Amino acid sequence: IYGKNRRNSHGINLNISLQRELLFDDMRRWSSHQWEARPITATTGKGALLADKPVIAPFTAQYQIGRSQWFNPDNIAAVMNAGAAGFERWRLLAPRYANQERKAWLMLLASALENHSAELITLCVLEAGKTVQDSIDELREAVDFCRYYARQIDVHFAQPNKLTGPTGECNELYYEGRGVWLCISPWNFPLAIFIGQIAAALAAGNSVIAKPAEATSLIAARAVEIAHQVGIPKDLLQFLPGSGVDIGSAAFNDINLAGVAFTGSHKTARQIALQLAQRNGAMVPFIAETGGQNAMIVDSTALPEQVVRDVLRSAFGSAGQRCSALRVLCLQDDIADEVIRLLSGAMLELSVGDPLSLSTDVGPVIDSRAQHYLLRHIRWLEQHAKCVGKAPKAPEEGTFVTPVAYEITDFEALREEHFGPILHIYRYSAKSLNTLISNINSLGFGLTLSVHSRNPDTASRIERGIRVGNVYVNRDQIGAVVGVQPFGGMGLSGTGPKAGGPNYLLRFATERTRTINT
Ligand code: SER
Repeated sequence: IYGKNRRNSHGINLNISLQRELLFDDMRRWSSHQWEARPITATTGKGALLADKPVIAPFTAQYQIGRSQWFNPDNIAAVMNAGAAGFERWRLLAPRYANQERKAWLMLLASALENHSAELITLCVLEAGKTVQDSIDELREAVDFCRYYARQIDVHFAQPNKLTGPTGECNELYYEGRGVWLCISPWNFPLAIFIGQIAAALAAGNSVIAKPAEATSLIAARAVEIAHQVGIPKDLLQFLPGSGVDIGSAAFNDINLAGVAFTGSHKTARQIALQLAQRNGAMVPFIAETGGQNAMIVDSTALPEQVVRDVLRSAFGSAGQRCSALRVLCLQDDIADEVIRLLSGAMLELSVGDPLSLSTDVGPVIDSRAQHYLLRHIRWLEQHAKCVGKAPKAPEEGTFVTPVAYEITDFEALREEHFGPILHIYRYSAKSLNTLISNINSLGFGLTLSVHSRNPDTASRIERGIRVGNVYVNRDQIGAVVGVQPFGGMGLSGTGPKAGGPNYLLRFATERTRTINT
């Protein structure tokens, strides 16, 4: 059965070409299902509710796929106390036993997510508007996170680091959990990042309060139900759908809070940092993965066809709703016309529409607010830039934005991140490469960069000049693979550490040095 064949080193490799019919039959069955998200806490069982909201599929803007019951933040203390009690109970168990249990839960969760492939993929398409292929990749990444972090438990937590010291003294350094982590996840990776944060926090020995994005609480709720079914205790993993502002504000001030992991906008990350700085009690670590104003730089030695293929994937894949997505394509002047000509032709072949259809390349954006904001930027570009590419018009019904490319003559349009299928194109000359590099750095973000060049000296000069977390040479710049391309940025793009990398768990842990007089 699909989902159980051909695993890669970290997770699954769904062999969709062979198992496509089975998957789509199952997806069809799931597509009329109604889901429900509700708080799952270890205290009252359900947690007190504040609101009950219908969840509408973005690509129809009408079809209801379920309901989300929002947690009332007035009850946060009970949830945090239960999380703290769960953490303490597990902290006092023998580390060898507790670590093996945590590892087993994550391995079981990975397999259970695979076994629920059809439901989770369908839900991802319906709730987040992601295409079928993006939703398959999303599931694969979630599974990879579980298996990768499970294996990292043995690397970091199984044995203390033995340190040298004077004769008659034994010195060791341990990593152990911190306490209750609040994990706040984004709607653009409603399963992968949601599960990635939870898996990391649990692997490092913590308890977790999971707060999904408001727009995607149904898939998150299913993932948590599955996690509880495989044995993850309810006091180690509690689930609070609802308002980020209200739940966050309440939790940040709770004495039991031990850390916050957040993926979302830079603006929200700043507000969280401010609130955490003003909280009573201990300072807590804050992991923020935020946005990017990502560039691809193409010099005159690049292969235009390859560039166009990588631009289409990087700028318009996932409707441009990835923090890694390409926002500004910088073309050396003597190759620019050729690349633009090929790109504008290729954009006419993009299919924008129903994400459930296999032939769709670009689905909807997440909601009408995002759509409105993107359309406003396109209107601005109409006045200040030249349109050089446009996909066939997106459907009227639903929250679609037709992919577009505009040639700009300065970086004014790049002051803010526009999280959608809008590509800016900028020409530079070989003589102005240094200025270009400093202009990109001055945007302040530092997430992804793609360099297309057959000249190793130029590629290296660009790669070293631009400060980002993830550099890709002669390829697209999205879809970092867990354990293979650790992902995360610097500057306005986040605090680090890199998700899916060997140092990620350590930020969720605290260190203890033990000195024994032998
Ligand atoms: N990790 C994703 C990527 O690499 C972005 O969040 O595209």
